[in-house]
Amino acid sequence: MNHNIVVVGSTNIDLFMKVHDIPKPGETVIGKEFYKYFGGKGANQAIAAARFKGNVTFIGSLGNDSDGLSAIKNFRKEGIDTKNIKKSLNKPTGLALIFVDKKGENSIAVSSGANALLTVDDVIACTDIIKKSDILLLQLEIPVETVKAAAKIAYENNVKVILNPAPACPLDDEFYSYVSIITPNIHETESLTGVKVCSDKDALIASNVFMEKGIETVIITDGAKGVYKCDKMEVKFYPAHQVSAVDTTGAGDIFNGVFASAMAYGMKIEKAVDYATAAAAISVTYEGAQNSAPTKSEVENFLLNKNLNKSFINIKGEENGKV
Ligand code: RIB
Repeated sequence: MNHNIVVVGSTNIDLFMKVHDIPKPGETVIGKEFYKYFGGKGANQAIAAARFKGNVTFIGSLGNDSDGLSAIKNFRKEGIDTKNIKKSLNKPTGLALIFVDKKGENSIAVSSGANALLTVDDVIACTDIIKKSDILLLQLEIPVETVKAAAKIAYENNVKVILNPAPACPLDDEFYSYVSIITPNIHETESLTGVKVCSDKDALIASNVFMEKGIETVIITDGAKGVYKCDKMEVKFYPAHQVSAVDTTGAGDIFNGVFASAMAYGMKIEKAVDYATAAAAISVTYEGAQNSAPTKSEVENFLLNKNLNKSFINIKGEENGKV
């Protein structure tokens, strides 16, 4: 394997505000700090994969504006191939408004902007790049028909497709048949299968819905509790590492990026889940989404210290990814 990962997905500028409690409808609250980071589920996953030493190509659509320009510079700084990022003239770069409360939990609304303009033809034009990849990593923050077209190209060329179905939306059986590994959280699982996952047994019932559509492995993430990995053989639960969360935004993206990168290294799924779980735990101890993605050595040190029974020390000094 050449550690080649192609991510087809969204890029946003994330506008964060820390609040004591997330405002209810009709309520005004006085917030605390405000900060601005690069974000978007696709971009966050691409950066997490690249920091875990994957060779990442990003396919997406940005506005022809200053946010788009700085997002491209940010991708390049992380060593990501940006040749297939389109600049859309008619829409601005995507934007997300994010509240983070006292427990580090968030609430997000996205204005898709240029992300909505990535077309089926755009991904067809990238067929050769997708063909040469080891892993195609997808989410659902760009038009679903575009995501499906990318999955089809990968499937027809024996490239493994990992789908993080976030945010969840209805998918047809043909789309599922192209996917090898699906990684929903418990809310996305309920929305896609109708099964509320509270136990191994529920995880198995939900996974069977996906597996009947041709998916081999189902990885259901349950935030601070842990992760269920299900296949035809078994359900295995990986408890989350206990850390003090300051901001959980993007933890799922960091999980997916690191998982995909580890898979592109040819690691077994179990090992890739171990790394991804550790990376997600590290990420929630920092502000921001892609800003909080750890490097490969940070993840390895975290696991080493855990195995030595040492507590985790937050080691990332410099802030990355601030706009
Ligand atoms: O998953 C977190 C991400 O969701 C944020 O970066 C925001 O841009 C939205 O896409």
